[in-house]
Amino acid sequence: MRNTGPITVRKLHPLFGAEISGIDITRPLSAREFGPIRAAFEEHSVLVFRDQPMDDDKQIEFSENFGPLETTLSANPAAGTKFARQSNLDINTGEPIPSDDIRMIYQKANYFWHSDSSFKRIPSLCSVLATRICPPEGGNTEFCSMRAAWDALPPALRATVGPMIAEHALVYSRNRVQPGILSAKSLAEYPPVRQRMYRDNPINGRRALYIGAHCGHIEGLPKPMSDALLHELTWRATRPEFTLSHAWREGDVIVWDNRAVLHRATAYDAVKHKRLMQRTTVAGDAPTVPQ
Ligand code: OGA
Ligand code: MN
Repeated sequence: MRNTGPITVRKLHPLFGAEISGIDITRPLSAREFGPIRAAFEEHSVLVFRDQPMDDDKQIEFSENFGPLETTLSANPAAGTKFARQSNLDINTGEPIPSDDIRMIYQKANYFWHSDSSFKRIPSLCSVLATRICPPEGGNTEFCSMRAAWDALPPALRATVGPMIAEHALVYSRNRVQPGILSAKSLAEYPPVRQRMYRDNPINGRRALYIGAHCGHIEGLPKPMSDALLHELTWRATRPEFTLSHAWREGDVIVWDNRAVLHRATAYDAVKHKRLMQRTTVAGDAPTVPQ
C-alpha cells in the first residue's frame, strides 16, 4: 500500500463506524496524510484499519498523531508503559494464564460496556487497539454509539440527565466482576472523579451520552434512584441497533472515540486459543466538569 491519493472511507453501520483503506499507517504519516484520518475519526467515532501489522514502536508512533498517550495504571500487566495489555498470555512466559487466575477474572470487567479512562479526572480522547495474536473465533470487540443513544433519549429524560453529574471510579467496574477485587494500591491510585453525563464533540457539536461500567453513582440522588436511572440509561443506550461487533483478524487496528462510544470485550475460548491485543490510549485535554 502507498500513501498516494486520498483515503477510502467505507461506512460499517448506518449510525457510526468506518473502515479506512488506501493508507499504510505502520509508517510515519505527514500532517497532510493524517488530516483526513483525524476528520474521519471526528465524524465516524470508530475507525477500522486492516492489514496493518503493528509492533509496539509503530503503534506508539501512529497513536501519537492523535495526541499525547496515557501511561498505564498499576493494575494492568503492562503497568508504567504506554500499553494496556489485553491477553490470556502471561507477560513473562507467554503461556496461557489459567482461567481461574485472578488476572483472567480481573479482565472480565471489559465485558461490561465502558469508556476507557472515564475514571480519570481528565478522561481519554480515544483508544487504539491492535492485534498481535488473534483467536480463530470469538473475542469480538463491540461498540455502541452514544451519540445515537443521546439523540434517542425521550426529551424529558434528556432534560433531566443534562445537568446531572456522575461519579466514576475504577472500583465500580471491578466490583461488577468480583467485589473487593481491586487492590488497596489501585483504590488509592484512582479515587472517584466527577464527570458530566455527556461529552460534546468540539468540531461538529455532536453530543454523546457519557456513562459506562466505571460510572457508579449520580450525585445528589439516593442510591436506589441513581441505580435505577443508570440502569435505564444503559438499556436505552445499548440496544442492538446502536451497536457494531468487530471480528478481529491479525493486522487489524481500531481507533475509537471514548467521548462518543462505549465498547466491550466478548468471550473466546481462552484455554484453547491465544489472544494478545495491545492498547494505546490517547489522553484527553480537560476535565468534563470542575472536580
Ligand atoms: C480495551 C478493551 C476489549 C477487547 O482494550 O480497552 O476494552 O476486546 N478491549 O479486548
Ligand atoms: Mn476498554
